[in-house]
Amino acid sequence: MIVLASAPSAGETWLSWVLMVAAALASGLLLAGPALRRRYPAAWWMCIGYPAACIRVARTWRPLMAGCGLAVSRKAALTVVSGLVGNGAPPPQPRVPRRGAVRLAPGGFWFLVRLLPGQVPEDFVNAAPAMAHDWEVHAVRVTTWKPGVVRIAAMAADPLKDPRIPKQRGAERLLRVVVGVLETGTQWVFDLRHIPHWLIVGATRSGKSTLINALVAGLAPQPVALVGIDCKGGMELSLYGPRLSALATNRAQAVKLLAALVDETQDRMELCRADRVRNIWGLADDKRPVPIVVIVDEIAELFLIAGRSEKDEAQAAATALVRLAQLGAALGVYLVVAGQRVGSDLGPGVTALRAQLGGRVCHRVADPGTAEMTLGDLNPDALQAAQSIAPEDAGTAVLASADGWERARSRLVSEEEAESIAAEYAHLTPYLPALADGAGGFTVHLERLDRDE
Ligand SMILES: Nc1ncnc2c1ncn2[C@@H]1O[C@H](COP(=O)(O)OP(=O)(O)O)[C@@H](O)[C@H]1O
Ligand SMILES: [Mg+2]
Repeated sequence: MIVLASAPSAGETWLSWVLMVAAALASGLLLAGPALRRRYPAAWWMCIGYPAACIRVARTWRPLMAGCGLAVSRKAALTVVSGLVGNGAPPPQPRVPRRGAVRLAPGGFWFLVRLLPGQVPEDFVNAAPAMAHDWEVHAVRVTTWKPGVVRIAAMAADPLKDPRIPKQRGAERLLRVVVGVLETGTQWVFDLRHIPHWLIVGATRSGKSTLINALVAGLAPQPVALVGIDCKGGMELSLYGPRLSALATNRAQAVKLLAALVDETQDRMELCRADRVRNIWGLADDKRPVPIVVIVDEIAELFLIAGRSEKDEAQAAATALVRLAQLGAALGVYLVVAGQRVGSDLGPGVTALRAQLGGRVCHRVADPGTAEMTLGDLNPDALQAAQSIAPEDAGTAVLASADGWERARSRLVSEEEAESIAAEYAHLTPYLPALADGAGGFTVHLERLDRDE
């Protein structure tokens, strides 16, 4: 056989040049890609990540819907007719839900989907993990857009990995604190006047105390009394010592302090009744008692019992906490309770207390049961998100309330920062005679709050 070598034509030369340049560009992009992506994440997502995601969604939509059981087969009759008419052509494919255009969002994308007859949004919520895997994104959230239409939003990377905490904007409102950032990039706000009582759950070193620190740091400059119950010897809350109106560091002290707080709420109730108002906010400014935020770090230390004598103490603490939660919201007493577990194994009182704490924060937990106890009675679909928090993401949590659920990450407040904040605002620590009179060994600060300042 003879092979004829001929000089390449002009067209071929041109083609090989184009190919070479394309190959050089592609390999350059591959090499510099990770650096560019880290340096300019937004531009990277817009120019490369998002178009790639669009292609991926378009390619996988039909098999994905079929795989998740969201495709509806055509009528059997139609299949038979097409088999007869089509002469062995493949039968018509099952119908899949119609999808709108994939829209660009910061760090992600979203689109709308019309449900097929017989489908509910929950079917798509259940399919969300499969979508996230197929599209190689961090997470997919499904929400109802309007009846019959769901909105599917995907986030390429976890925005809480390296969050930028938005600054508090505008004047600080009483009992409202920015404690971190939500997954959407907006402020994570604790507003105790909106949701008065909170339960914060998480395994050891999941970020509970850090969240409490952020909350106390935000409350310290406000005219509120802070009361701590930290039965692990006060290790966590003593950082804020000078700014706390009272701090109980063991169970005996805690029981006395809680009893004093219950008495205080009863006095406030009298005050409101005499003035014929329904809560302390209806009172005149000069008569209104100072709001009290009661912080309990590690509820188990308060509830777990070893012997008979401890049983009465634990019972008393539980009863007082439930009482405070029931009466507190209207009377300016707010509860923030943190613990590793909130199961009924801690005692009979804990279930009643849990029911009273409307705001829920679930950090990484050791077992699914705890996540379920924290979030389940409010929001079953938040469970999945709570259980996928990794140990290295301390401070990341799922929040749930009657309004819905969200992922968020707290602001890391260092020990030095906490101490300097406590020292700076120590002069604001209110004088609470009720707590001082019941002085049962817990530390009480008697500096008077100068309201004229
Ligand atoms: N929001 C956060 N961002 C970064 N790191 C955090 C955050 N929250 C907690 N951590 C890290 O996790 C550690 C343990 O947190 P901590 O609040 O003491 O956990 P817990 O009270 O649940 O045992 C902290 O020392 C800190 O290093
Ligand atoms: Mg802790």
